[in-house]
Amino acid sequence: MPNNLTIIDNRTGKKYEVPIEHDTIKAMDLRQIKVKDDDFGMMTYDPAFMNTASVKSKITFIDGDKGILRYRGYPIEQLSENCTSFLEVAYLLLHGELPNRTDLDDWRQNIKLHTYVHENIKKLMEAFRYDAHPMGMFISTISALSTFYPEAKDILNPDVQRKQIFRLIGKVPTIAAFAYRHSKGMPYIYPENELTYAGNFLNMMFKIGEAKYKINPILEHALTVLFILHADHEQNCSTNTMRGIGSSHIDPYSACAGAAAALWGPLHGGANEAVLHMLDEIGSADKVPAVVKDVKEGKRKLMGFGHRVYKNYDPRAQVIKKLAYEVFEVTGKNPKLDLALELERIALEDDYFVKRKLYPNVDFYSGLIYQAMGFPMDFFPVLFAIPRTAGWLAQWQEHLSDPDQKIARPRQIFLGYGERNWVPVDKRK
Ligand code: SDX
Repeated sequence: MPNNLTIIDNRTGKKYEVPIEHDTIKAMDLRQIKVKDDDFGMMTYDPAFMNTASVKSKITFIDGDKGILRYRGYPIEQLSENCTSFLEVAYLLLHGELPNRTDLDDWRQNIKLHTYVHENIKKLMEAFRYDAHPMGMFISTISALSTFYPEAKDILNPDVQRKQIFRLIGKVPTIAAFAYRHSKGMPYIYPENELTYAGNFLNMMFKIGEAKYKINPILEHALTVLFILHADHEQNCSTNTMRGIGSSHIDPYSACAGAAAALWGPLHGGANEAVLHMLDEIGSADKVPAVVKDVKEGKRKLMGFGHRVYKNYDPRAQVIKKLAYEVFEVTGKNPKLDLALELERIALEDDYFVKRKLYPNVDFYSGLIYQAMGFPMDFFPVLFAIPRTAGWLAQWQEHLSDPDQKIARPRQIFLGYGERNWVPVDKRK
């Protein structure tokens, strides 16, 4: 059976054979389809890339219909169940294999050497207003790191890449915690490198005066699982941004800042904050039917619901929902949980949601846990960006080593004016 498409252009009667590879055709193979010889040739039109593969990748696999998510082939359920450290999963994403004991110790050690930030970074962060959104601080400060490490521009040098990867994975928790401490007007707590990745972050966030901050192991484990679940998600909006910016061969700090900016959007990683604002606004279960009515009339979206790829329950939401009960054992139940469960129950019974295959996504329950753990709502997107930095870097690294790739520069369908002449201002309508 020939592995190609036969395309007949009915405008000309011409036939074209286009090869099929990985159940796709190369868009460039359509350019031969022309009416006149000097035509530009056929393109595809795919706003928001609804049906376009822009890269080949081996990092993360998602089956949206079956609700499957795997990092380098390992199901997310197994990784969140068995990995005791986020850095083990970060290593997997970046290297393609789970680390052996030596690799894991070396990896941990290399990252721990880079948890501190230059003292000027502290001064830079002090310039933000007291009420600056922590995600705005995070994005700006990540970008500023590029000015401290100019050698990072040598992006095709594997040793330079590796060092910036250590620095970014090591520093994002520190920068995130400093942003929080700034917003509270509290002194910064420096990294303590004998702690775990999640433990060190909790320490930098919440230590106040006590000689040794007591890290609750259940909360430390919960944060590790949340970091693992948020680490990568194939070609989502922010990862596409990371690859797009990275394709111009700028340094990874500038690319990460752009990716974090994309993640901040309420339709993307900003949804976890938006869910809690939505639950606050709804207030009580008796108001849910009115909200669902507004959603069905297109007046609003149900934040934390729906997904471009998952047309089934987001597997991460399943894990997070279970994790919530473990956390609430320690923190006390988040009173908004019952409201969230009622919202989910009503939505999943309603034909509007069923027909559109709208299920809770990763953001629907994560905010309930973060809030119960004492994180302020505007900090939730930062909690998404910390672990996703490892995913962005794995995807960036893969992009730079992909021989198919070059600078990203989409085409357009031009529907504007044809040529016309300038008119002096007094002669204009
Ligand atoms: C993340 O891509 C990723 O992998 C992202 C992410 C990751 O890990 O990187 O998984 C993280 O961003 C999760 C998504 C978080 N965002 C939200 O929870 C915001 C609410 N969700 C929607 O904005 C929406 O579902 C998106 C943005 C997530 C997906 O949008 P799509 O794929 O473009 O779907 P669509 O807007 O075309 O919706 C299809 C239909 C539309 O109805 P009709 O026009 O056909 O009548 O479903 C409706 C939409 O109006 N719809 C919703 C809805 N989501 C889609 N209606 C109400 N509430 C919603 N949440």
